[in-house]
Amino acid sequence: MKALNLAKVFICIFISVLFLNIKGKEHKGINTKFKEGKTQHTLNLKKDVDIFCSISIVNESSILKLVGEEKIFASLIDNAGRKIKQFNSKEILISGEDLLSGKYFLAVNNEKPIKITVIDHFILCDGAFVEEEEEEEEEEFEGPAYKNPDLPIEERVNDLLSRMTLQEKIDQLSGDPKLDGFTTKYNDNLEIPQIKCVDCPHGVRWGNATFFPVPIAFGSTWDVDLVEEAAGVIGRECRAKGRNMGLAPCINLIRDPRGGRVFETYSEDSYMLSQMALAYVNGLQSQKVIATPKHYICNNSEDVRWNEAAVQIDERTLREVYLPIFRRPIVTGQAWSIMGAYNGVNGEYCCYNEWILREILKEELGFEGFVVSDWGACHSTISSIKAGLDLEMPRTNYYGEALLQAVEDGDVAVVYIDEAVRRILRAKFWAGLFDGIEPVDESVVESPEHISVALELAKKSIVLLKNEGSVLPLDEHSIDSIGVIGPNANTDFRGQGGSSAVTSSYAVNVLDGIINKVGDSIEVMYAEGCEIGTEHAPSYIPEITDSVKFQQALDVAEKSDVVILVVGLSGAIESEGNDRAYLIFPGVQEQLIKEVISRNSNAILVLKNGSPLTTVLEIDTMSLFEACPAILEAWYPGQEGGTAVADVIFGDYNPGGKLPLTFPKSASDLPTWDFDYTNDYTEGRGYRYFDKQGIEPLFPFGHGLSYTEFEYSNLQIIPMVSLNRQITVRVDVTNVGDMEGDEVVQLYIYDVERSTDDQPIKELKGFSRITLAPAERQTVEFKLTPEHLAFHDEQINFLVEPGRFDVMVGSSSRDIRLEGFFYITEEIRIR
Ligand code: BGC
Repeated sequence: MKALNLAKVFICIFISVLFLNIKGKEHKGINTKFKEGKTQHTLNLKKDVDIFCSISIVNESSILKLVGEEKIFASLIDNAGRKIKQFNSKEILISGEDLLSGKYFLAVNNEKPIKITVIDHFILCDGAFVEEEEEEEEEEFEGPAYKNPDLPIEERVNDLLSRMTLQEKIDQLSGDPKLDGFTTKYNDNLEIPQIKCVDCPHGVRWGNATFFPVPIAFGSTWDVDLVEEAAGVIGRECRAKGRNMGLAPCINLIRDPRGGRVFETYSEDSYMLSQMALAYVNGLQSQKVIATPKHYICNNSEDVRWNEAAVQIDERTLREVYLPIFRRPIVTGQAWSIMGAYNGVNGEYCCYNEWILREILKEELGFEGFVVSDWGACHSTISSIKAGLDLEMPRTNYYGEALLQAVEDGDVAVVYIDEAVRRILRAKFWAGLFDGIEPVDESVVESPEHISVALELAKKSIVLLKNEGSVLPLDEHSIDSIGVIGPNANTDFRGQGGSSAVTSSYAVNVLDGIINKVGDSIEVMYAEGCEIGTEHAPSYIPEITDSVKFQQALDVAEKSDVVILVVGLSGAIESEGNDRAYLIFPGVQEQLIKEVISRNSNAILVLKNGSPLTTVLEIDTMSLFEACPAILEAWYPGQEGGTAVADVIFGDYNPGGKLPLTFPKSASDLPTWDFDYTNDYTEGRGYRYFDKQGIEPLFPFGHGLSYTEFEYSNLQIIPMVSLNRQITVRVDVTNVGDMEGDEVVQLYIYDVERSTDDQPIKELKGFSRITLAPAERQTVEFKLTPEHLAFHDEQINFLVEPGRFDVMVGSSSRDIRLEGFFYITEEIRIR
């Protein structure tokens, strides 16, 4: 049956191609009006006629007009039979995003199906239709309908649900208290498989697994394809370990760089986060592992994460800043699960917040998967199930017996139970759990192929923050000795960070990486210098307690041609459940940096941390960062991190990562970090705040250098005056240095005439990482759709106002190379 369906899709594509350029042609009572080269299609619907319609699309919206005799109710349905959107009008606006997610859709007018086939992602073509092929006689399936893999998911769910007792249904809705805290109950009677969760933001937390750099490093690659590939690897390892649901990606917005989970998320920018989240969901779900974007929503501080009053937010800020992060992985990525956060929003815990769960997520975004509580985040029985919390984890506490009682007492209608069970079953069917999905062999775990993806990600994530006098890359042949100094030179972050901890069977730290690289050709001397130490206020300069260890480091610095000084943080300082109190280096690391760079002018600072660092000490009125000639941000770079750092230091890899968050000079430059989110939109966070306040950051959002130089030229904006069409922005980027390198081209916009007058000065709306050989030039193209330009006005309309939009293209948010503008001439209302 599957093969037959597939064959039909291909027949349909083939015939569609034959029908290209048909205009207004009559065909068996169906009237089509296809405008050549446009994405507008009119279909005349008649009873008892199935219509196959092929459209293709470039990254923009397509309008499908349905003309029928009756009132039309159309739904967009994916291959798995899951409803994506419902339309009550005859005009269906299908976004390019939906179509480009690579799925086949069915639009249904009651029982009449229309097959929409994306036949080419990049070439616009006309629509076409064919009559359905005669179906071959099918073999009768023996057994209950829900076990029949050829039936649509919805049919299987209905059948199974109709066979379940209330007790069996309720058993589906919480973790099994007798098991490991990550697994739900098995139903013997109907043979309903279990959900088996596992944390996996940067590797699988289940025994040994490939240990990727931490998620903030995923962000600093600015490479969505690589993030998708890495998530695919993680998904395969989940499968190899028998887990079918990944508790990732973590997409908390970095509201303040002191947040304990900054290392575990991707960016301070919601647009960038949404792109990374989509890539991760696509990668994980490509392996049939249920993805769980988390933590929904406004989960930005660890110290108050259990607090019901942790977030006071107005609707506009929620929709402008926090909701878009989840919209893309849910609507476009079709994640099958989402995790309700620990914190409350406007005085109600997320896991029983009806506005957040039912109204926005399920009704408005059309989420059809299930909501799982964060571990222990379910705080009630009746209000949670009514608000839309489907699965209580890790074990039965408020659901189970209490929920059964609530139903029997008439406090909870069975429809709520059915809805929750239906959502969980859908995901189980999608994941193939009833159909004996083929196991993935354990040998893939930490296989050379998987580790090589971790290494590539580590290399691509390293950010060259500073390189005065081109100290880097080092020339192996002109150095006799290297001093590797610092408390993070031989650490690797394995098993750290809380629930995202990954434990690989080995990890190459920076010291190992340097030794492996230079072999016997250069003498490598190592000194730890000091411990990482504990946090302290900037006003307090701690004492050096181990002066012997400290002195050893200074001796090594004096004796070495070059020093690689590896400092930073650890999981003891930044972690789930633990915000940082300060941004400065803990312990006596600043003293170490100061004394080492005073003794050796060829000192390269390598930072291993998951969030920004600041300094207070000075050398000749220069800050330590100013005094240090070269600085690399390596993050916690995973299992092959030391190899990646050594490759960058010796020029075997040209760094191209960029900061996905602002590094401030001091915590006093940051906006207040409190419960009141109502100013987050008008005031901005991250680079939006720094731009608006005119504050110079230490290193700006999007910053990162290379061993080569890139020149930007020929900015084109097409059209410059537009009613409501997509705007294309093109720019030429040329490598004008003599080494191959990567550039992340960034596009920012400014809505100059916005009526609310509280818009950010710059908003990221596109980015692209490219690799260029010396003298090579590439044209980078961005598409700006109305969705990119729209904002929520005071009445919460999502619209584009007519007026001028400034376009800024550059190498960082503070290194804009080319500027232009365009005009929108008429208001566009989106929602
Ligand atoms: C974390 C989640 C995690 C869960 C299960 C919670 O403490 O907040 O991110 O998925 O534990 O480990």
